[in-house]
Amino acid sequence: MCGIVAAVAERNIVPVLIEGLKKLEYRGYDSAGVALLNPTLTRLRSVGRVAELAAQAEGQVAHHGIAHTRWATHGVPSQRNAHPHVSGGLAVVHNGIIENYAELKAELQAAGYAFSSDTDTEVVAHLISETLKTVPELFAAVQAVAKRLIGAYAIAVIREWDDCIVVTRHGAPLLLGLGEDGNYAASDASALIQVTRRMVYLEEGDVAELKRGTVRIVGADGTAAERTVHESTLSADAVELGDYAHYMQKEIFEQPQALAATLEMIGGAQSLTPNLFGVAAPEMLKDVKSVLILACGTSCHAGMVARYWIEQLAGIPCTVEIASEYRYRVSVPNPEQLVVAISQSGETADTLASVKHAKSLGMGRTLALCNVPESAIVRECALRFLTRAGPEIGVASTKAFTTQLAALFLLAATLAKQAGRLSADEEAKHLVSLRHLPVAVQKVLALEPAIKAWAGRFADKQHALFLGRGLHYPIALEGALKLKEISYIHAEGYPAGELKHGPLALVDKNMPVVSVAPNDFLLEKLKSNLKEVAARGGELYVFADADSAVDEEPGLHVLRLPEHYGLLSPVLHVVPLQLLSYHVALVKGTDVDKPRNLAKSVTVE
Ligand code: F6R
Repeated sequence: MCGIVAAVAERNIVPVLIEGLKKLEYRGYDSAGVALLNPTLTRLRSVGRVAELAAQAEGQVAHHGIAHTRWATHGVPSQRNAHPHVSGGLAVVHNGIIENYAELKAELQAAGYAFSSDTDTEVVAHLISETLKTVPELFAAVQAVAKRLIGAYAIAVIREWDDCIVVTRHGAPLLLGLGEDGNYAASDASALIQVTRRMVYLEEGDVAELKRGTVRIVGADGTAAERTVHESTLSADAVELGDYAHYMQKEIFEQPQALAATLEMIGGAQSLTPNLFGVAAPEMLKDVKSVLILACGTSCHAGMVARYWIEQLAGIPCTVEIASEYRYRVSVPNPEQLVVAISQSGETADTLASVKHAKSLGMGRTLALCNVPESAIVRECALRFLTRAGPEIGVASTKAFTTQLAALFLLAATLAKQAGRLSADEEAKHLVSLRHLPVAVQKVLALEPAIKAWAGRFADKQHALFLGRGLHYPIALEGALKLKEISYIHAEGYPAGELKHGPLALVDKNMPVVSVAPNDFLLEKLKSNLKEVAARGGELYVFADADSAVDEEPGLHVLRLPEHYGLLSPVLHVVPLQLLSYHVALVKGTDVDKPRNLAKSVTVE
């Protein structure tokens, strides 16, 4: 989604803005732009990569500016729609959606403003100009305009001859970076660690004024606000590509370390404790009678796996809902229910709104399972578990998913213990399995050459089907999502038993069918489903365990994972599916890390 970087400093801030935009590229975008004050306004915009904008900005010097990567919502990706948008001598960049923009636009057109783009952002620029006629101070004008905007937004504004940048946020992320020689703002910390590690997370409705030597923040209630300064621990290397060709490849191969870091807190532990989920957890996780998991996309697939674990281990009913559905449906609230929000970014608008919705219905036992500390979802929930996958840059989620699974298994086992359903023996076994996960995943990664050899056979296909059963049904869904999002091959995940109720009609020699076939109690059932595919001429690609009794035959290709991993098997079985989609995308030559139309951090609904 859109990314914002703003800087006012002693140094030339042009390289800072460009580098910041590069760090935000992973969020997904289609055009980029920058507005510099020296002291009049210079605006540069380009469609495509930040590198093109960097070439345009070569030689520019400024101490004051705002920059933006745009992911199109209102109006096609084009230079005229790229940010910043200007009105008179001011420039605005914006992340989010202004829902009442049509009504505001009509009002501004009636007042004589001409629009040169199709965006909702240009409305904000003209509205500030109009407001400045009666409220001459930029800060006060932005405060007044913010009151008129409906929707989710983060905004940064500069004006010719002014010495400040004014920013505000409501429902979209924005943080400040406090530097030695100036002050900065950005959509996430990765854009600013080049200049400072001292970060301030703005709260809903905050308006802030950044000057070279000062920062002033006023809260939504209009009074001066003190916000905590956080020392960012984000590692600069974490966002470098290193020797890898793509971030997705890097992140797939980082999974052993990501799992080890996430599970570090149980490193030497002999037993599980609810404190893993926060200081209030012993009280809040006590007597949990049911669980509601809210998430989107890949994170929702992690939740679907967790449902099997929670019901099987803890004997507690668990439902998983797609956040964008839950937030708008009339549901029957249960104030005792534990609400678990799963999100890599912690900023996904639908997931955040679904938690707020649950809270508004009286459901106060909320747990965020998230990869980004201090993100909006973490701050919204009473309890938290932070996965330690490190920054995930590739749009297709990989290491975030496997670390979410590890954390959710910990949750299921903890709830089982609280419910008195976990013997000391089982607890010890689970801890051993969790600790061994990084090594087990490392061994699965060694399958890459064989998977690469399969990838070429998928690249010319239009469709693919992914099958799994039980715990591995969500893994089939995840495999299909990975393939479709980065290779643009239409793929569907199905519970294998459901095949004969419709999708079997699609199967022919042109439709590869991928199956996840661990050696569990459902294997024989799954094999019957695979026979149904083979009988219709379908080409089968099966990911089995070392000891799964599935043999190669014409039309049935088998790759074996090194070991069978019991309840935690989904963490291993998703890895070859990630590698498969990565290599199919490579053969097809798609933009692996930034697939078309998608964004990493989905801060609009
Ligand atoms: C798919 C993918 C998305 C995200 C979804 C939720 O590879 O990455 O489906 O999982 O947009 O994002 P988070 O987890 O940040 O809430």
